[in-house]
This record gives sequence, C-alpha cells and structure tokens, in this order.
Amino acid sequence: MKSFDSYRKWKYTKFLSNKNYSFNRNYILNIISSKIITDAFNSISKWKNYKKTPLLKLEKLNKNLKLNNIFYKDESKRFHLKSFKALGGAYAVEKISKKKKNIIISSATAGNHGRSVAWGAQRLGLQCKIFVSQYVSKERVKEIEKFGADVIRVKGNYENSLNECKKLSKKNNWNIVQDVSTKNYSYVPLLTMAGYSIMIKEISKQTTHYITHIFLQAGVGGMAAGVVAGVAKYFKRIPKIIIVEPDGADCVLQSIKSKSLKKIKIKKESIMGGMSCNEMSLIPWHVLKKASDCCVTVNDSKVPKTVAMLKDKKLSKRSIIGGECATPGIISLISLCNNPKTKKLINLNEKSNVLVIGCEGNADVKLYKQLLSKGRK
Ligand SMILES: Cc1ncc(COP(=O)(O)O)c(C=O)c1O
Repeated sequence: MKSFDSYRKWKYTKFLSNKNYSFNRNYILNIISSKIITDAFNSISKWKNYKKTPLLKLEKLNKNLKLNNIFYKDESKRFHLKSFKALGGAYAVEKISKKKKNIIISSATAGNHGRSVAWGAQRLGLQCKIFVSQYVSKERVKEIEKFGADVIRVKGNYENSLNECKKLSKKNNWNIVQDVSTKNYSYVPLLTMAGYSIMIKEISKQTTHYITHIFLQAGVGGMAAGVVAGVAKYFKRIPKIIIVEPDGADCVLQSIKSKSLKKIKIKKESIMGGMSCNEMSLIPWHVLKKASDCCVTVNDSKVPKTVAMLKDKKLSKRSIIGGECATPGIISLISLCNNPKTKKLINLNEKSNVLVIGCEGNADVKLYKQLLSKGRK
C-alpha cells in the first residue's frame, strides 16, 4: 500500500449547509419520545450477550488531521450480527409480538435489517419471511437464512421487494416489521430508531469528552434520526450533525436542499448497499430537516482503500473490521479536512472531538474480502 498520506488528496462530491438548521431537543423528543428511547435501552440491555460495542480511537488518522480526537463506534461487535441494525429490527419484533407465539413476521430488506428481524423472530421462536431484491448478494441471503427465515427473492429493486412484502403480508395476515416510516406506518420504524439510540447512551458513558461533530451515514435516514434522538436525550452539549450519503443516492441532501421530501432516481447502485436509497423515511425527514447541520456526499472510489486502512492499522493502533458502510464517515471527514474552506466552515480544528459510526463489520464476508484485497493494491 502506498503511503497513507495519499488520502490528503481525497475529495467529497457535494456539500450542502442546511439553511433551516435548528437543533431543538424538545422538538426531536416530541417525535421520538424520551419514553420510547428509555424502554428500548431497558429491554435490549437485558438481552443475553448484550454488551456495549467498543468506542475506539483513530489515533493515527487524528495525528494526521490534527484534530483533538476521532472516535469510532465499532458496530462490527454488535451481538453476533456485525451491524448496528441488530438494535432495531430485532427489538421491534420483540415489542410487536407481545409474547405471542402464533404470529408470522415479515420484512423487506437490503440485508442487515432483515438479518436483525430474522434473528429477533428466531430468538422468540416465531416464523419469519424476508423479501429481498435482485441486488442483495447471496452471502447476505445466506446470513438471513441462518436465522431460520424463509427468504423470498423479488425481481427489481428494494421498492419492488417492499411492495411484494406488503402484498403477501396483507393476504396472509403476516406482521410487517419495516424500518421505513410512511404517513400510515410509524410505530414500528419508531421502535427501530429508539433501538439505534442506544449507541449514544453507550457513548455517553464511554467518554468524558464532549463530542463536537458526528458523521452519520444515511440510507433512508433511520440510523441518523435514531442517533440524533439519542443525542437530544443523552448528550449535554449538541454536536454538529453531518449527514453522509453515496453521491448517487443523496435523498437526504436533495430533500434538505429543496426543503421537502424528494424522491431521487438512482442511476447506479452504490457499493455501500445499505445506503443506496432513493427516498427518505418520513419520521427521519422531520428530524433531520432541522437537526442536520450539513450534508456531504462521497463516491465509491475510496471505499476499498478505507476498508484496508482500517484493517491494516493505518488509521488506528488496533486493527478494525469495517465493511463498506463503515467507511463513508471517515472518507467524508478526511475530504472535508482537505478543503480549508469547508474545514473552517464546520469548525474542524485542534479542539474537535469527532465521532464516526463504524456501522458494520464484514456483514457480507465475500464482498469484504474483495474490498480488502482491492484496497491493499
Ligand atoms: C449496513 C447499513 N445499512 C443501512 C444503513 C442506512 O441506515 P438507514 O437506512 O436507517 O439510514 C447504514 C448506515 O448508514 C448501514 O451501515
């Protein structure tokens, strides 16, 4: 691998400051309530094998970018599911099943959400049907099947798989556990977001530093909104919230830019599969339209290198297993620091304590190996 200083040339694709920014704890906790957040922590923290995921430091990257700290929340260690999604779908299954044993759970997924739902159903001895599009890899399907779910492949994209899931669930009286909220479907997605807020509860006990910036990856925005709700509840000081998306799937950036929910057309699916979404979920929209300080997009080209740098201890003293969706926070942080104008604009300096979320480990083992070997070249 070439000298890792080569990342000092990395660039983001788009940057947008949110003109409507106004972080208001009460506004956010009116949407994702303090009670639902507390309930999620009280339930999940009692699960067998629950433990906080590590809050690591990217010391070497920090030395190079000259910030105060760069924290990395390592969700590759989240139960044995290797992603933060374990906190969402599985928790929603537990809540909606209300200890009943004769119900069937269903869901549509790009991968990790379905795994969480399938695991949640298996934990409770429930049957489970998971719908996936043609783009979901065989590896990810196998991982879902390991938890005893029937996987149904649907031609077309995520939206097609969701429509098929809705159709068959209605016909067969299955209970849908979806992480995307719409006008008439909000309770279950709220539960998943409450589950994600646990990451912030843990971080509030893992460091005494005040976090100044959080880089939040977004697909439909559920993780970002859950984390923001956690910040509103648990953090004493409010950090800058920076939303990160693949440049071909920037539905959050486009919605914030036009001040209304925007559906975009994805021309080419990003390698960051979990984030390749064309429309925001409704509740996250209401949260993020105000709480996001700015949005940034990155392309796929630096993903393999970042996977390799994490693994090969180029960014930290310890080796870290970070999958494709764990990388864009780091890529955008580096790219924003490389541009003196944006660096200054968002106050990234020697006093900054930055948090990036390492959302997933090698959840797709085959893809991870490919990215690692490409990134090492
Ligand atoms: C594996 C994975 N899936 C999906 C997402 C996107 O989450 P959401 O659709 O809730 O924004 C992320 C993170 O952004 C992720 O790491």
